[in-house]
Amino acid sequence: MKHDVILTAKGHAGTQKRMEQEFNLVKLWEQPDRAAALKAAAPKVRALAHTGHSKVDAALMDALPKLEIIANFGVGVDIVVTNTANALNDCVADCAIALVLNTLRKFPQADKYVRAGRWKTDGTYPFTTSLGGKTIGILGLGRIGEEIANRAKAFKMDIRYHNRNKKDVPWAYDPDPVTLAKNSDVLVAITPGGPETDKLVNAAVLDALGPQGYLVNVARGSVVDQPVLLKYLQEKKIAGAGLDVYYDEPNVDPAFFGLDNVVLLPHMASATNETRTAMGLLQIENIQLKLDGKAVKTPVV
Ligand code: NAP
Ligand code: 8YV
Repeated sequence: MKHDVILTAKGHAGTQKRMEQEFNLVKLWEQPDRAAALKAAAPKVRALAHTGHSKVDAALMDALPKLEIIANFGVGVDIVVTNTANALNDCVADCAIALVLNTLRKFPQADKYVRAGRWKTDGTYPFTTSLGGKTIGILGLGRIGEEIANRAKAFKMDIRYHNRNKKDVPWAYDPDPVTLAKNSDVLVAITPGGPETDKLVNAAVLDALGPQGYLVNVARGSVVDQPVLLKYLQEKKIAGAGLDVYYDEPNVDPAFFGLDNVVLLPHMASATNETRTAMGLLQIENIQLKLDGKAVKTPVV
């Protein structure tokens, strides 16, 4: 299948010819009505090839809501993108561990049990599952993943991980997500989102996790095959899940609401006063540094 790609301007002839062979190429500078051409392309165009001296500005990006890549013909991108890396590691790792605790120990469900007066009428709350001695598998052992591992150690859990690249860390490495899930009691997803990790946690991974296994997702909704996860929770093919992120936030599939084996948070892992203030200060500092001609602190590279 040929993908639809927009080329912004006339550039290197050989490259353009090759693009015409590889893609359904929309040559933007040739369009008699640029706005109409962009409107027609918007539902399917995920890639923009940029060349020449025209600008890829906000209006152009706004016109292409499905855009996933801007590929520049040249090394200079003339724009710096920064993020708030590291400022949120602790809070997101805290949230991941809280979801591990809450899915295994079922504290939110037990809280509802007390409030409903069921302790008195129904007796002791059913036993739950302990963390100590269990294996936590971290899918995406980056800045946040390492903080999750540090915390999991304090809960006396064994730690394993999978990244595409093995790291120099004291924890066991698994070569793929299925093996990691097979070797883990709790799988925590904390990779970036985007096409490369789309549905990284799929039916095969959940099968490997098995009916005694738990999933926690603090990465992005896209990292987990959500309809498959829902089915597996409904059919008790995994023991439970703790979710901070979803496919179409803030719309959460209501089918999750009736399930006793899932804990649902509203994408709040970094949402504390302290962390959001630190993120904002870093954002401002990056802007000031760039505008003063200095190197920014946290560039997206
Ligand atoms: P990071 O330092 O870049 O770590 C990401 C890790 O994921 C890396 O170790 C990377 O290792 C691994 N990874 C990337 N692609 C992978 C793939 N296809 N398969 C397996 N592993 C892969 O990023 P971070 O700062 O820890 O943040 C991670 C993500 O957490 C963010 O991108 C964001 O989506 C999410 N997040 C969520 C919240 C929230 O509120 N819930 C808050 C902050 C961040 P390799 O490159 O070696 O594969
Ligand atoms: C926030 C996040 O929800 O940093 C991320 O990737 O998902 C969270 O920290 C978001 O950045 C708030 O704008």
